[in-house]
Formats: sequence, structure tokens, C-alpha cells
Amino acid sequence: MTVQPLIHARGLVKRFGDFTAVAGIDLDVAPGEAFGFLGPNGAGKSSTMRMIGCVSTPTEGTLSILGMDPVRDGVKIRARLGVCPQLDNLDPDLTVAENLTTYARYFGLPRAEGRRRAAELLEFVQLSDRAESKVDPLSGGMKRRLTIARAMVNQPDLVLLDEPTTGLDPQARHLLWERLFRLKQQGVTLVLTTHYMDEAEQLCDRLVVMDAGRIVAEGSPRSLIETHSTREVVELRYGDTPLESLRGKLDGVGERIDVLPDRILLYADDGDAAVAEVHRRDLAPSSVLVRRSSLEDVFLNLTGRTLVD
Ligand SMILES: Nc1ncnc2c1ncn2[C@@H]1O[C@H](COP(=O)(O)OP(=O)(O)OP(=O)(O)O)[C@@H](O)[C@H]1O
Ligand SMILES: [Mg+2]
Repeated sequence: MTVQPLIHARGLVKRFGDFTAVAGIDLDVAPGEAFGFLGPNGAGKSSTMRMIGCVSTPTEGTLSILGMDPVRDGVKIRARLGVCPQLDNLDPDLTVAENLTTYARYFGLPRAEGRRRAAELLEFVQLSDRAESKVDPLSGGMKRRLTIARAMVNQPDLVLLDEPTTGLDPQARHLLWERLFRLKQQGVTLVLTTHYMDEAEQLCDRLVVMDAGRIVAEGSPRSLIETHSTREVVELRYGDTPLESLRGKLDGVGERIDVLPDRILLYADDGDAAVAEVHRRDLAPSSVLVRRSSLEDVFLNLTGRTLVD
């Protein structure tokens, strides 16, 4: 990497007692990148984010954020970070606008400047009409947008988003993606965690796939799919037929077979040709879907498990 990375980690480890949550990871995030951690529950995503956010001390390894040491320069680093934690921690006693202006004062902005900034950010996350409302009556998606607005109060160089859209309905997720995409276009460096492969595909230039505290693959969404899966995937369903009994009969159709509890996945560059072969073997399924490979398939291929169970 020719430019100085905003985040640089080597052999980064986080232990809680004798449990290892992050088992020695290497990372470089460049300015302007949208970088993701994709992994299932317990993979170590939040533990990593908290170290990057300077609220948790690495147990071992090297970590530098914005060229500084998080242990020695935590205060200086945090002044240039925007953080959206996994669980919203908005102040329920304050109004929507006050949640932002209070934060602005915390960063030393003059009152008038804080109010101006709050109004601008509420506009950006489409919450201007809720400015005087308390936090509690807001929907999950609105709270998430407010937390993101709050993370932007100090005009951060680096924004950390821990599962920005978990638990939101599709419409709320798409609105958030669109706003995050705009931030990225403005040149803000985004680091996010997710266990939604579509989110990772939509937002991330580059991502690491994490499992059990380790990085199991790294690259752009496209390159990960090219390296770790076939072009297409065929999903076969067989009603009540025990699927394991079909594994042998499907042997050699496509490059690889995964038998899941409710369906069989056939990995093939040409899905339609694979379906034709399934029919030729008299193994007509009750339903069939041919689709492009996704990051979910990459994860399954690398770990033998699905991202969201
Ligand atoms: N403060 C803590 N003390 C003890 N164990 C912890 C602590 N924080 C996290 N862990 C454990 O470390 C592992 C990784 O947790 P972490 O929160 O980093 O995972 P995650 O990838 O963010 O998962 P999720 O998708 O559920 O948010 C888990 O097994 C968790 O129980
Ligand atoms: Mg987490």
C-alpha cells in the first residue's frame, strides 16, 4: 500500500481471560475505503471494532489508527473517529436534536456551530421533522440514523459502524445504505461489520471474512466470489425426501455440493446445464432456483456453515 493506511494491524489479539475473541489478525485500511468485517455471531467483529475505536486494549500485536497508538493517543484518535456501536446508546432524556448538540459540545464546538451542524445532520439522515421528539418513540431505523448522525458531529476522518442495519426492515436498511454510500462518496472512510452478505456486497470495496476470531479470506466482494465459489449456484428442494440420501446420486453435477437442512446447493459455472443434468439423472426436485454466487456461498465454502442460522 503506497498511502499511509488509516488502520494498520499485525497479529492483533484480544483475549477475555483464557478465551480468545480475536486470534491474531492483520489489516490495512486505506483512506477513502469502505472496508467490511463479514462474519457470523461471535466471530470477533465487535471485539475488533472496539480495539479500533480505542475503547478496548489489544492483548497482543501491533495496532495503529490514523498513524497513532490507540493506547497512548486514544483521546486524540477518538476526536477524529465517528462511532456507531452495535447497540444504540442515545440519551433517552434528550430530544433528537439535543442528542447531537450535546455531542457537539463534548467535542468543543461552539453552541451556535453545534446547532447548525445538528440541523445539517438531521437533514442528511432525514430526521429534521423529528428534531424536537424524544428518542424513545423513534423506530429502530430512525434511532440507527440518529446514531449515525451523532457519529458525524465531529466531521470524522474514519467512521466505525458496528452492524449498522441489524434488526431493521428492508426499507430502513436501503435508506441507510443510501446514506452510507453518500458518506463514502464524500470521501469518508467507512469501516463496518455485518453478518448480511448483501450489505457487504452493497457497501464494501474490500472486506475480510471472519470466523472464530480469525480472518479466513480477504478481498473485494467480486474477487472473493471468484476465488471461493463458482459463477452460479443451483438451489434444489425435495419436499420431505431426506437430502443426505441424494448426495451420492448428485455426485459430479457441478463442482461441489452442499447439503443444508432444507436444500441442496450445487455449485456450477453453468447453473442451467447442472439442472439439465439433475433431470437426466431422474432426480427432479420439487423446486429449483438458479442464481449467481454470493458472499454467503463464499462463507459456506470456507467454513462449512451459513452466516445467519
Ligand atoms: N467483555 C467480554 N468478556 C468475555 N467475553 C467476551 C466479551 N466480549 C466479547 N466476548 C466474547 O468474544 C467472542 C466474540 O465476540 P464479539 O462481540 O466480538 O463477536 P461479534 O462478531 O461482534 O458477534 P455478533 O455478530 O454477535 O455481534 C464471543 O464469544 C463473545 O462472547
Ligand atoms: Mg458484534
